[in-house]
Amino acid sequence: MSATAKQTAPMPVDIKARKGGEPIVSLTAYTTPMAQMMDGHCDFVLVGDSVGMVLHGLPSTLDVTMEMMIMHGRAVSRGLSKALMVIDMPFGSYEQNPEQAFESAARLMRETGAGAVKLEGGQHMAPTIDFLVKRGIPVMAHIGLTPQSINTLGGYRVQGRGAGADVLMADAVAVAKAGAFSVVLEKIPQGLSDRITQAIDIPTIGIGASAGCDGQILVVDDMLGLFTAFKAKFVKRYAELGMEGEAAIAAYAADVRARRFPGPEHVFADVLPKATAAQ
Ligand code: KIV
Repeated sequence: MSATAKQTAPMPVDIKARKGGEPIVSLTAYTTPMAQMMDGHCDFVLVGDSVGMVLHGLPSTLDVTMEMMIMHGRAVSRGLSKALMVIDMPFGSYEQNPEQAFESAARLMRETGAGAVKLEGGQHMAPTIDFLVKRGIPVMAHIGLTPQSINTLGGYRVQGRGAGADVLMADAVAVAKAGAFSVVLEKIPQGLSDRITQAIDIPTIGIGASAGCDGQILVVDDMLGLFTAFKAKFVKRYAELGMEGEAAIAAYAADVRARRFPGPEHVFADVLPKATAAQ
C-alpha cells in the first residue's frame, strides 16, 4: 500500500469474500488500548460478551447487559480504524423474537459504531438471522459451544460428538442459508469442523475447532495470559502478562516500602523565590 493510501476497515461482505482464502485473523477486545494494539493485525475485532468473565469477574456471560456491551463497544471503536468491529448480542437481548433482536442489534450498532453483530444459536435462530439481514444488520453466527446456553448444555464441554455432529452440521447450513456472513465454531471436533467448513459457503471462524477453519479467534486476555482463572485446551498463551504484571506490582510495592521509589528522576526540583532588591 502506498504511504498516502488510507486503509479502510473491511465490511462484513469483505470478510465473507475471504472464504477459502488467506485465514481471517481475529481477537476479542474490550478497551481502547487493546483495540489499538490489534488494529493493523486483525481483520475483525469482536467485542465479546466474554468481557463479563475476563474484565468484570462474573461467573459466566449470562449477567452481561446491553449497557456493558455498549460501554465496551464504544471504547473499542475508538481504538479501531482498520479492522471491522463485531459486537456480541448479550443473553436476553435477542432470543424472544426477531423484533426484539432487531431493536437490540440496531441499538448496539447505532450506539457503538459496530459494523456487525454476533449471536449464538443454530437452526432455531435462523429465522432471526434472516429477519436481521433483510433489514440491514450483518450477522455473524456462533454455534457449537454457545456459552450463553451453558445451563442447558450442561457445562463447557466439547459439542458435536456422536449424534450431535449431524445437528451441528444442520445448524451451520441453516445459519449460512439464513444470510449470516460468517460463523464461529466453538469447541467442536476437528474432523466435524473441517466438514462444516467444506459444506458451507461462508467463512468458519474457529475457537477450539480446527486449523482448517477459514479463520481463528481467541479471547485476548487468554492468549496474553491476563485471564488466569482457568485455561481451556484450545488456548495458546503467546505471553504471560498476568505473571509479568504481578511481578511488576510486587517490585513497585517493595520499592515504595524501602523508599526506593520515587527516585530523583521522578520528582520535581524546588524553585525558590528570588531575593528582592530591598533584601
Ligand atoms: O464472547 C466471546 O469472547 C466470544 C468468542 C469466544 C468467540 O464469543
